[in-house]
Amino acid sequence: MADQDRRNTETFTLTNNATGEEFELPVLEGSVGPKVIDVRRLYAETGYFTYDPGFTSTGSCESNITYIDGDEGILLYRGYPIADLAEYSDYTEICYLLLYGDLPNNEQKEKFDFDITYHTMLHEQLIQFYRGFRRDSHPMAIMCGVVGALSAFYHDSLDISDPWHRMVASYRTIAKIPTIAAQAYKYSIGQPFIYPRNDLSYAENFLYMMFSTPAEPYEISPILARAMDRTLILHADHEQNASTSTVRLAGSSGANPFACIAAGIASLWGPAHGGANEAVLNMLQEIGDKKNIPEFIKKAKDKDDPFRLMGFGHRVYKNFDPRARVMQESCHEVLGELGVTNEPLLELAIELERIALEDEYFVERKLYPNVDFYSGIIFRAMGIPVSMFTVLFAVARTVGWIAQWNEMVEDPNQKIGRPRQLYLGETERPYVALDKRG
Ligand code: SDX
Repeated sequence: MADQDRRNTETFTLTNNATGEEFELPVLEGSVGPKVIDVRRLYAETGYFTYDPGFTSTGSCESNITYIDGDEGILLYRGYPIADLAEYSDYTEICYLLLYGDLPNNEQKEKFDFDITYHTMLHEQLIQFYRGFRRDSHPMAIMCGVVGALSAFYHDSLDISDPWHRMVASYRTIAKIPTIAAQAYKYSIGQPFIYPRNDLSYAENFLYMMFSTPAEPYEISPILARAMDRTLILHADHEQNASTSTVRLAGSSGANPFACIAAGIASLWGPAHGGANEAVLNMLQEIGDKKNIPEFIKKAKDKDDPFRLMGFGHRVYKNFDPRARVMQESCHEVLGELGVTNEPLLELAIELERIALEDEYFVERKLYPNVDFYSGIIFRAMGIPVSMFTVLFAVARTVGWIAQWNEMVEDPNQKIGRPRQLYLGETERPYVALDKRG
């Protein structure tokens, strides 16, 4: 939409009380959600920057992909509610939806599934890349390295100005990320790499490459395949979170898509972001028993203690994270179907959530469980090792990153991201020769 179409009749008038100057700022309105004050001309007209570390009140771009209403606990992928998609869709259908803007018809779905399936293998030379890592490397370190290395292998899809190159690179990234992830796991446990199979679905193939061995047939549990598929759907995209913003910023310089996705993986790794699912499991194991919960709640509230209740709180959700609800339901379903009658960590998580949500500190700050709070329990039930939890998040989020990257490249208003600052350092001063310094 042209700026004019988005412009709302409202404007904001900024008055400089020192000089009496007034500046009018236009308001832009999207299809839903908060309107924005367009400050693009602010510095040129006033000589002032805005200041918003962490971008708590700043929109970085226009997007048509994902909408979140943090107060209402709403998450839409291209307008479809996440709970419906988790219930009725499958992950490759979600990939098509996020990439192309609507649900595929039968013919489109079949072709997309075929195209993705037939790009799941890695260049055989790339497999040598793993050999350079120590066996005990964190799988996320391997993911950063191997995904970045894709740009050293696929030179025929790096021209980001060419829509065909962008589509090929997008399909390759979505198709190969589970293979790369599964091989990172196999490498860390010293087992042989398992090649993808073209007769399996995306989720089934990932489980197969993770857990099968050449020594015996591996039977894929439909329960685990469904749980994996639903987990991938829930983690697929989430508007302008830290890792997606990293991918957009890297892409704004014209960097190739594989390098941008590697940057997104690096950002997701942090415990405040995608690394939280691993941190939640470690936290639950550290708490160990319900009787220890009050001590950890106290630590989480203590400003002098860096400990935070992992899996709780969110920059946007000030209500329940709708993904956490689906995850919690899925926990009961998967554990029940697997015949796991008592999972102490799930009992502990539910009790921890109950106590936290009754505590004034959490209630006042609207800190609710987020997507990472329950996901680790399902991952554990699926046999995923804790060190692979964030890798699983990266596998799922790759389609969101690549869809947002495409949207950024195709945006006519797109320019290199280059924030300014509030400088607090030394003002200009003369150089002091070494023998004249104190
Ligand atoms: C993801 O952005 C996304 O969309 C991310 C994500 C996605 O799909 O891409 O949803 C995935 O990253 C989910 C979040 C996973 N991270 C965690 O679970 C780590 C624990 N949570 C926190 O680190 C924190 O809640 C954040 C990072 C998630 C949000 O931080 P904000 O928005 O910057 O909030 P804040 O740190 O300013 O906290 C506000 C207040 C502070 O207290 P006061 O200074 O007001 O007294 O709440 C407190 C914080 O100390 N607080 C917590 C807390 N989270 C916030 N106190 C204890 N435990 C916590 N978990």
